[in-house]
Amino acid sequence: ALARPQSSAARGLWSSRWVFFLAATGSAVGLGNIWKFPYITGENGGGAFVLVYLACILTIGIPLLMAEVMIGRAGRQNPAGSVARLAALAGASAHWRKVGWLGAFTGFLILSFYVVIAGWALAYVPATLGGAFSGADAAASTAQFDALLADPLRLVLYGSAVLAVTMLIVGLGVRDGLERALRFMMPGLFLLLLGMVGYAAIAGDFARGAAFLFVPDFSKLSAEGFLLALGHAFFTLSLGCGAMMAYGSYLPKGVSIAKTSLLVALADTTVALLAGLAIFPLVFANGLEPGAGPGLIFVTLPIAFGQMPLGQVFGGLFFVMLVLAAVTSTISLSEPGIAWLNERFGVSRTRAVLLTGAVLWLMSLASVFSFNHWADYQLFGHTFFDSMDYLTANWLMPLGGLGTVLFTGWVLQKEAVREAIGIAQPGWFNAWWNLLRYGTPVAITLVFLNLIGVL
Ligand code: PHE
Ligand code: NA
Repeated sequence: ALARPQSSAARGLWSSRWVFFLAATGSAVGLGNIWKFPYITGENGGGAFVLVYLACILTIGIPLLMAEVMIGRAGRQNPAGSVARLAALAGASAHWRKVGWLGAFTGFLILSFYVVIAGWALAYVPATLGGAFSGADAAASTAQFDALLADPLRLVLYGSAVLAVTMLIVGLGVRDGLERALRFMMPGLFLLLLGMVGYAAIAGDFARGAAFLFVPDFSKLSAEGFLLALGHAFFTLSLGCGAMMAYGSYLPKGVSIAKTSLLVALADTTVALLAGLAIFPLVFANGLEPGAGPGLIFVTLPIAFGQMPLGQVFGGLFFVMLVLAAVTSTISLSEPGIAWLNERFGVSRTRAVLLTGAVLWLMSLASVFSFNHWADYQLFGHTFFDSMDYLTANWLMPLGGLGTVLFTGWVLQKEAVREAIGIAQPGWFNAWWNLLRYGTPVAITLVFLNLIGVL
């Protein structure tokens, strides 16, 4: 949800912690869990990739999530402003604010394709409810998905709808409605996923699906797979782009950053694993290819919805929940940039939204055309959509994360950080502090060196 300072400050402590947890989980849980996690796991051979991804969440994602929330809460501004304020307090250069700029820019690039994928989910709501998938087999489902990709007008309409709703919510700040939506959406999505896992256990090849996800075979993991696992840890926890800093800036003092961050990461990981458990048994049972790419869930799940009892309703609901989960993420993606334009330059939220919305809309067209008209125009072997996805998750987010951990661990003073993060036990604090100072930057740097081929 879009919590603004007044709102959090005015609420009681428990309610605020809960609201923050909902907002942060709303940001984290999205297409990354349900769309991206299964398809990149499928492309990268399964279990070994999942294991590396989980290790990245644990050793890099959670410590960084804590640092971002802490910077936001201590700085009480948009990400760039918060970093600049803390830098000033520590007597460091104001250049560190560029970490915040980079984040807002990254969020912007992510939005340009994220709304298009959310548009796919939205297009699948009427299709599923209307029975388009009744009795569909793998071939029929694939044909329908291909037809959607080949239809720029439909893609633009649905993607624009998602963008418009996001901008409306961010511009008006209708956080109450959003909060209420989150309260039923999160448990609802969770229950639907559980139901899907149950269905996959009965109708799918569950043993094979689970083995694919959880039995690691490192011979199937390429060097590139490591990078993608790290990049996905950033993407799925909304890290390295200011989103969690922006939300942290509305967090009341006294709430445990460590506990809340752990819970957010746990919720996010659970949703991703459930999505995997729902999808892979069906992939194998229907003779589909796990490495089929970005269309994986859009081809696989409708087959199940077309066969199960009440599948039209169930499937329609599923895609509604997916769109809602995506919108709570797009809101957090826009917040750093909008808040920055607003707080730094006095641009009203409405104008900021109209301005960025217009630019984003144009960029989203490039994403749409990546799947049809411009599918053959490629930069370095990638379409515009691929390039944006690759650049943001694997380069810009880790880069923003690296800037954040260096800033926290090496620029801010240890005692100031100890106070701001509020971890009482010295052992836990030191463990986190050292991980952040040494472990995280070294790990990210190794991945970068690997990316540019030095390692
Ligand atoms: N974490 C979101 C997801 O998994 C995507 C996201 C990235 C949201 C960055 C905000 C910031 O879908
Ligand atoms: Na996520």
